[in-house]
Amino acid sequence: MRRLLISVALAACVAACGQPASQTAASSESPAPAAAPAAPAPDTAALQAAIAALPAPYNEATYEAGRRVFAQCRSCHTIEAGAPNRVGPNLHGVFGREIGSLEGFNYSQAVQDANFVWDAAQLDNWLANPQTFLPGNRMAFAGVRNETQRRDLIAYLMVESATAP
Ligand code: HEC
Repeated sequence: MRRLLISVALAACVAACGQPASQTAASSESPAPAAAPAAPAPDTAALQAAIAALPAPYNEATYEAGRRVFAQCRSCHTIEAGAPNRVGPNLHGVFGREIGSLEGFNYSQAVQDANFVWDAAQLDNWLANPQTFLPGNRMAFAGVRNETQRRDLIAYLMVESATAP
């Protein structure tokens, strides 16, 4: 669990952990590391434990399976906090976020006109078939038709986007 918290807190850490323990002489150039520390080796047990704490049916998902499904999204989406947008918007914190609301991303008119907050049910519909769910959107992705794969993917997104449901 501690490992997971560390990875979840990584973004905050990037901002704060470079600070020296003693805050006395906050010089202009503190030796903050140029890059984020190497990601900790994935602690599969802790991540799977985080999955088990999700609401049903996501508590039955497999983290590793979800991670593999997310490989289909990675070419277009990052999920890490503060990571850049690619062809699609960064997905960190997507749960509880108004659709089409990530600052600085140029959404299609269809997405801009939609009006709901992302939750597991909306994501399930979107991911099953993006084009029928929201015609005219610009996500060039056929969808994940397999229900179990969607469950695993959404559980993975819940854990990785670090928003407790
Ligand atoms: C070919 C690139 C591509 C792939 C692959 C892709 N997406 Fe997207 N995604 C986009 C684009 C582009 C948008 C913005 C759509 C728009 O504005 O119409 C988007 C939007 C989204 C949104 C809405 C975000 C918001 O801020 O409202 C979610 C959620 C999402 N994608 C999840 C996924 C997931 C999960 C996968 C993998 C199963 C995936 N996408 C695969 C390109 C992609």
